[in-house]
Amino acid sequence: MRDILLDLLVAPGDHGALTLESGRRADGEIVEGMLTAADGHRYPIVDGIPRFVRTDDAGQIQTADSFGFKWGKVDSYDDGPMAVTSRAWQIERYGFESAADVRNAFAAHGLVLDAGCGSGFSSSLWLDDEWTGEWVGADISGAIDVARSRIGHIRGTHFVQADVLDLPFADGSFGAVFTEGVLHHTPSTERAFHAVARLLRPGGELFAYIYRKKAPVREFTDDYVRSLVAPLSPDEAWEALRPLTRLGQALAELNVEIDVPEDVPLLGISAGRQDVQRLIYWNFAKLFWNPAWSFEENLHINFDWYHPTYAHRHTEEEIRGWCVAAGLEVLRLHDQEPAAYTLHARRRA
Ligand SMILES: C[S@@+](CC[C@H](N)C(=O)[O-])C[C@H]1O[C@@H](n2cnc3c(N)ncnc32)[C@H](O)[C@@H]1O
Repeated sequence: MRDILLDLLVAPGDHGALTLESGRRADGEIVEGMLTAADGHRYPIVDGIPRFVRTDDAGQIQTADSFGFKWGKVDSYDDGPMAVTSRAWQIERYGFESAADVRNAFAAHGLVLDAGCGSGFSSSLWLDDEWTGEWVGADISGAIDVARSRIGHIRGTHFVQADVLDLPFADGSFGAVFTEGVLHHTPSTERAFHAVARLLRPGGELFAYIYRKKAPVREFTDDYVRSLVAPLSPDEAWEALRPLTRLGQALAELNVEIDVPEDVPLLGISAGRQDVQRLIYWNFAKLFWNPAWSFEENLHINFDWYHPTYAHRHTEEEIRGWCVAAGLEVLRLHDQEPAAYTLHARRRA
């Protein structure tokens, strides 16, 4: 942990000052120590990362453990076809031209928070050696250690283990907040939304990816399968989702399209020509399969969907309402995919 991060940190909750005790330094960083709040609460610095998580919410703890496990399986997502697809997909959703364009847009904000950064996967799609800003990654799970080992060599990167609902930063601290696929994994997406919106300076920008509600039978199946998978240990769940992934593969390999002759409002299905695997995927059960990816990359996506206890889905009206309540102006709300909304908003001056 570098001094620049120490200067930013305040106590979660009352946002009072923190005092560093017995910090041990190496290579210009504080690697071990203790941060003490005025109320006596103590937050350890372990392996160069300050640790602030205090939640006792069982669903949140399971969700954090699930992501800690998944992001630890670095071979199932790093540097392969999944990273290539994800980079193009994110650039398009947020309305940028290229990864350099994303990097420069964030750098122009100076200080950026990646709220729920996981292992830094999404940020690492644009964060490179030409980064000139300061990037702070915060995650509730052990994935934060993976993030530090993956991207900690890049100048201007900082890491905090913390809960987005209880972050150790004062209001208005950041020029931009990037929160890709995170807020819906907390006990309350709405509370998490407001918890990150308050961190923006006037004129600061929010970039968020938030799950949207799906067709009714798909919603039902999602909840049903999650109720069976979430109680399993991460290892058991990873194995339990292999047959489901293979079914997605078999359907995709059919490579068959059908004509849905007319809209089916009762099932939320639209008329038109559709690939059979995609028709089942969007309307009946998430059986993810991308033929360009390895089996483990595809399994990673199905695990990401079904294992975490919290994975709330929302409507456009809800998201627009949260923006109004938080004093954010919507600059772009990408709705071109049925999985989620991608929001770019600015805090009013
Ligand atoms: C789908 S992953 C996305 C990670 C990263 N944003 C990315 O796109 O690569 C969701 C992340 O949210 C984190 N998360 C869930 N609840 C959180 C909370 N209350 N506070 C901070 N992080 C949280 C999980 O630990 C996980 O790493």
